[in-house]
Amino acid sequence: MGNRKLLLENIHIEGFDTFDVYRKNGGYRSVEKALKSMTPDEVVEEVKKSGLRGRGGAGFPTGMKWSFLAKPEGVPRHLVCNADESEPGTFKDRYLMEKNPHLLIEGMITSSYALGANLSFIYIRGEFMYILHILEKAIAEAYANGFLGKNILGSGYDLDLQVAPGGGAYICGEETALLESLEGKRGNPRMKPPFPAVKGLWGCPTVVNNVESIAAVVPIVNEGGDAYAQIGIGRSTGTKLISASGNIVRPGVYEIDMGMTVEEFIYGDDYCRGVANGKKLKACVPGGSSVPILPHFLVTKTATGEDRLMSYESLADGGFATGSMLGSGGFIVFDEDQCIVRNTWNFARFYSHESCGQCSPCREGTGWMEKVLHRLETGHGNMRDIELLEEINKKIEGNTICPLGDAAAWPVAAAIRHFRDEFEWHVNEPQQAQTKNYGLITQPSVAV
Ligand SMILES: Cc1cc2nc3c(=O)[nH]c(=O)nc-3n(C[C@H](O)[C@H](O)[C@H](O)COP(=O)(O)O)c2cc1C
Repeated sequence: MGNRKLLLENIHIEGFDTFDVYRKNGGYRSVEKALKSMTPDEVVEEVKKSGLRGRGGAGFPTGMKWSFLAKPEGVPRHLVCNADESEPGTFKDRYLMEKNPHLLIEGMITSSYALGANLSFIYIRGEFMYILHILEKAIAEAYANGFLGKNILGSGYDLDLQVAPGGGAYICGEETALLESLEGKRGNPRMKPPFPAVKGLWGCPTVVNNVESIAAVVPIVNEGGDAYAQIGIGRSTGTKLISASGNIVRPGVYEIDMGMTVEEFIYGDDYCRGVANGKKLKACVPGGSSVPILPHFLVTKTATGEDRLMSYESLADGGFATGSMLGSGGFIVFDEDQCIVRNTWNFARFYSHESCGQCSPCREGTGWMEKVLHRLETGHGNMRDIELLEEINKKIEGNTICPLGDAAAWPVAAAIRHFRDEFEWHVNEPQQAQTKNYGLITQPSVAV
């Protein structure tokens, strides 16, 4: 289990990023199939049947999102691909676009057809300028071969596809901030409702989907939604790209079947091959910097002793008390020498820097958390600081326009929940905490 490649198949063939080689290897079949033999609603139906859930982090069912798209007479609709990928620990979309640009473009065409969009966009992180050029070259090839532009494959369907560089901020990955930025404004999140499906880009009904979600539409249309739903486990269907980093022997981007065990993913020969340098596992952040950290005894087993699986449900098992989230698939492993307080401060620094400043709980709270964590990490903290962090957390969580506040609060809450001893050690032994690492927790502070 776990070796199937739907998105990364063939990427090692020379010239696979060119139209000719991609096409020779079965590329653009989904466009032919959809435009020649399916109605847009039939494509939406296949995506619904597949059980595909959004790969941008929230895991919202893609087919359901598509069916919410408003269709007022005479108003254009848009599909916007979210390629902003700025979450620390997540680098799968970058890899997919670099190695398999035509898959994304094929997915954009088939998905735009399903949604009735005639002008679609790929909003790509500004720092990925070299990938923007890869995509632009691939788009030009698709136009030249009749897969974009007017009357695609003689079907009567027209589509223009543009790539837009991002605004250089993590917040521009939040879908409504992205739309503001795409409209040429500062990337501040919008109040919801109205949701983009009703009022999105330039006030028109818009679907925003992650790169991986759109790419997955290609195998879904080619093989059928039912075949895709056969892969995986429960409501976590299909394959998933995981960006694995941190203290592992073999970091990289892996395409796995949903439902493989976390144990196999960390220790298996085909995957991360274990913790680097023969060290012990201390903790894992399984879904990118904004999800709760898991201490070692909750990484491969859930609190009830079940195998922890690479799936939305299993990684969340136990709620935030003893679980985490699959999130955007940014799997970060920490060995026994890593300092949790330092790491938590590092993430907090990121969120404080990236808060757009629109909502005061997030603007002020992320800054305070960063300062208090820095105080603790540098040996100037006290016990009250740990409580203060918990209080600030509660004031941010759920009190902001967009989930960046939650993304900043959850990792801090989880670090204190599972590693309180280590925070207290920084207060009690500030000198030691500067030079030594706390090591592994031996006494779980949660019931397992
Ligand atoms: C601060 C913040 C940053 C985000 N960054 C990204 C991103 O870089 N890429 C992405 O696909 N989704 C990102 N999201 C989630 C998007 O708002 C949105 O849910 C997603 O693009 C929907 O696509 P999906 O349904 O295919 O997952 C971010 C959310 C927040 C709150």
